[in-house]
Amino acid sequence: MSEPSIPEPNGVSSRGDESTGQPSLLADLNELQSPTSVQDLEIANASATALIQEAVAEAVANREVLPEPIALPFIDFQDVSIGFGDRKILDNVSFHIGRGQTLCILGRSGVGKSVSLRILLGFLKADSGRVCVDGQDITTMDEAGLQEIRKHVTMVFQNGALFDSLTVGENIAFPLREKGGLAEDQIQQLVTRLLDLVGASDTREALPSSLSTGQKRCIAIARALAAQPEAILYDEPTTMVDPIMGRLIGDLIQRLKLQLGITSIVVTHDMRFAMRLADLVLFLDSGKARFFGTIRDFLDCPDAHVQQFLALDAYTLPLPQEA
Ligand SMILES: Nc1ncnc2c1ncn2[C@@H]1O[C@H](COP(=O)(O)OP(=O)(O)O)[C@@H](O)[C@H]1O
Ligand SMILES: [Mg+2]
Repeated sequence: MSEPSIPEPNGVSSRGDESTGQPSLLADLNELQSPTSVQDLEIANASATALIQEAVAEAVANREVLPEPIALPFIDFQDVSIGFGDRKILDNVSFHIGRGQTLCILGRSGVGKSVSLRILLGFLKADSGRVCVDGQDITTMDEAGLQEIRKHVTMVFQNGALFDSLTVGENIAFPLREKGGLAEDQIQQLVTRLLDLVGASDTREALPSSLSTGQKRCIAIARALAAQPEAILYDEPTTMVDPIMGRLIGDLIQRLKLQLGITSIVVTHDMRFAMRLADLVLFLDSGKARFFGTIRDFLDCPDAHVQQFLALDAYTLPLPQEA
């Protein structure tokens, strides 16, 4: 399996004093991100893999340009600042991720995590700085340009943002119909495969109101995938879901990376979840990117604010019940 190239992170990372490190977190990280666990994941997902590959083969075939590893970051935040009234929320925040990578945005409530995602999709305008997606500066784009970007970078909202009056199947079919060019039986086949992929085949005829929060999120991910995005943004995907569903959602995000090369940005306050998924971490604190770099360096980072965040997290969160 070839790993996507990882651009050099520019964080304040450095190997810290052992006494300030998080040995238990590091041990967990080794376990969670070990080649063995990736292998296990791949084996466990072998049948899903076949389904996904079939489903996306057609989708990929329709693309004129195949995504391939490039040196340029796929998503690039450069010195972004934004404030509301006299409150500065983001203050010269920079980060970047390459294709096929997963970035987790961590930080306390109200620190600007969701705002960062909204800036990235052009729903909010930064006061200063540049945001580039696939080499294009979106801060100067008009609405038509932004809509084009949103076809490639799509968001899974916390509430799923499903259409309440449509069945699950019709919700997933929606972007396929909107895209056009597919016959009805092709649409239905893709819906079947996407539902299989997210493990929710039995909900096809259900209305969203009858589903659990976690199920809604899985359906929202299936619908996002139907639009064949290159990147998916997730805002707190495990908030308000039980640990098993949280684990399923984590596995799903990981599978989309390994099998489809999807680039992901995952906003979460769940450190364990981040450790399962993250190649890169952005830690926001008081408007600043207090850390940007690899998850490994994050755990090792001597910065007092990072250590405080990790210590509190290790203290308050139960250890994961990993298989
Ligand atoms: N459109 C807006 N107008 C005014 N304030 C906003 C707006 N969007 C977000 N904020 C404020 O910006 C801060 C960061 O919000 P947000 O990014 O949602 O935090 P979080 O890190 O919890 O996701 C919060 O204080 C929020 O109230
Ligand atoms: Mg938020």
